[in-house]
Amino acid sequence: MGIGITAVGAYLPEKIVSNADLGQFFETSDEWIVSRTGIRNRRVAGEHEYSSSLGIKAVQNLLERYPEALGGIDLVMCCTSTPDARFPSTAALIAQEVGLVKVPAFDLAAACAGFSHGLNVANALIAAGQHHKILLIGAETMSKILDWHDRTTAILFGDGAGAVILERVPKPYGIESLVLGGDGAGGSLLYAMDLADRLPTLEGCNPKLTQNGREVFKFAVRTVPEAALQALEKAGLTVADLDFLVPHQANIRIIEAAMERLKLPSEKVVVNLDQYGNTSAASIPIALSEALETGRIQTGNRVMLVGFGGGLSWSAVLMKWYNSEK
Ligand code: UT7
Repeated sequence: MGIGITAVGAYLPEKIVSNADLGQFFETSDEWIVSRTGIRNRRVAGEHEYSSSLGIKAVQNLLERYPEALGGIDLVMCCTSTPDARFPSTAALIAQEVGLVKVPAFDLAAACAGFSHGLNVANALIAAGQHHKILLIGAETMSKILDWHDRTTAILFGDGAGAVILERVPKPYGIESLVLGGDGAGGSLLYAMDLADRLPTLEGCNPKLTQNGREVFKFAVRTVPEAALQALEKAGLTVADLDFLVPHQANIRIIEAAMERLKLPSEKVVVNLDQYGNTSAASIPIALSEALETGRIQTGNRVMLVGFGGGLSWSAVLMKWYNSEK
């Protein structure tokens, strides 16, 4: 047996904030934002909506599509850098609300690489025989850690959540290779701090999201294709074997650079950042959910997920898609 995703769901908050709407906070234009990022709209959680609220709704959406899916879940993980609280974990809050009582639950924080890091961990726990069926959620309320007067960051991010179930699937389906990467030397390029005084190269601490956009951009353009190629090589495959790339949705120019380097046509790349912006650890499961709902990704397709972000961190997961949808 392999290990694969057998159910997917997603949720986006109702409030839509367009590029034009951002003009009330700072000087910018739809033309600038679209040409530099590809983003047109983003969703923003309500004042009393938190990452757990969005995660719960993503799990409920998963249940609408796969009503029996939560039976036998023995671990809940929530990938988030915007947890409701330091503790209890957002995963524990979601688990309680969706009826998974007495099931272990914890959060995993790896910024925008959170979901693909989470898949690495969940896969290892199942492979080791320690757990059998894991509910893995990516849920973020980036709007709550943005400086809404910083036009270099506030334009980029949005809120949302996605949820998947990982468990044993028949061969030849399931995960074929995984990559986990990190470089702590780049920690000061993208951060939101609230406890420590400072990062080594920075003055003061800032609880709001702070970024060196140009350096993160260069890191991403280099890392996405490298991680994808590494995962393909580990599986003994090449780009020609790939049906879909589902990259973290940060910036269309980063995705286009990866497509160019990998020589991947746009039909093989899942992109929805124009509508949701960068939803950090939620972006990959939301994109997956849409690609499945529209019938783009089918059983047997070879799908590559690549996440990257603060840390610096990156990860990739290559799988042959198994679709248990009835
Ligand atoms: O998950 C990972 C998350 N992070 C990322 O993916 C970020 C990666 N980086 C980027 O996406 C890009 O670096 C940005 C979109 C953030 C910025 O694009 P850029 O092409 O690197 O622009 P820049 O920072 O070099 O700024 C160019 C100009 C500057 O003006 P001057 O100094 O040339 O006069 C900025 O002040 O554009 C100005 N600018 C803006 N103008 C209108 C910056 N933000 C805005 C804005 N509207 N929102």
